[in-house]
Amino acid sequence: MKGVVLAGGLGTRLYPLTKVTNKHLLPVYNQPMIFFPIKKLVSAGIEDILIVTGGNNAGDFLRLLGNGKEFGLKRLHYTYQEGETGIAAALALAEDFADGDKLVVILGDNIFEEDIKEYVEKFEKQEKGAKIFLKEVKNPERFGVPVFENGKIIRIEEKPEIPKSPYAVTGIYMYDNQVFDIIKTLKPSKRGELEITDVNNRYLEKGELTYEILKGWWADAGTSFEAYYRAISLVREMYLKGKNE
Ligand code: DAU
Repeated sequence: MKGVVLAGGLGTRLYPLTKVTNKHLLPVYNQPMIFFPIKKLVSAGIEDILIVTGGNNAGDFLRLLGNGKEFGLKRLHYTYQEGETGIAAALALAEDFADGDKLVVILGDNIFEEDIKEYVEKFEKQEKGAKIFLKEVKNPERFGVPVFENGKIIRIEEKPEIPKSPYAVTGIYMYDNQVFDIIKTLKPSKRGELEITDVNNRYLEKGELTYEILKGWWADAGTSFEAYYRAISLVREMYLKGKNE
């Protein structure tokens, strides 16, 4: 399996912190934000990693990460997303890199406590389709929210005004190679983006979407200053407990 870290977009919700740098290069306690998703993939045994970046400061990723030696990698792959056309549009740029393989995709501003190795192994055995990861949150309206019927997800709603469950769809996704054909059929949403939630809904319609509920904490560091601050506090606590990621 290969890994993709999505670190495009403009990071406007953290402006002016993101005026002269990319959101994913901002510090989260003792490390740049992008280190966390890269380490999550590496500790799950994934060594083939593509970074999708964008905006004005794309060159800084190369200066910071180089070929990923610091993470024990032989090389890192990079690609560039023009504009802020959505998470699914950023993922579409990984088609040649994937070359038919299954993918683990992580949003560059998402930090996870839990190790994902066990889930990667489980998805390797899943014949086809996709897997998403849920976490119960206090403010589901800020995220993709699954709607359940008889214990099964029947659809996912992106940032619903009235969430129909207390769960958020977090920013780790696992896909088979069908994902690229699915993305080609998508239309931009109201916010003008190709939505990852639409991709996941297509897999649901085919009956090929599985899910897991995460046990450890999860932080989406990019949605607000409060979310960014919370991510820093959680990483600090983890660091002080000696569990340095
Ligand atoms: O964090 C989980 C949430 O992420 C999910 O619950 C939502 O369903 C999903 O749509 C997404 O919501 P956000 O509105 O928080 O996504 P955001 O625009 O902040 O983008 C998250 C990351 O995706 C960002 O750190 C970089 C990458 N991205 C985003 C866009 C819009 C790209 O690489 N390119 C893009 O064009």
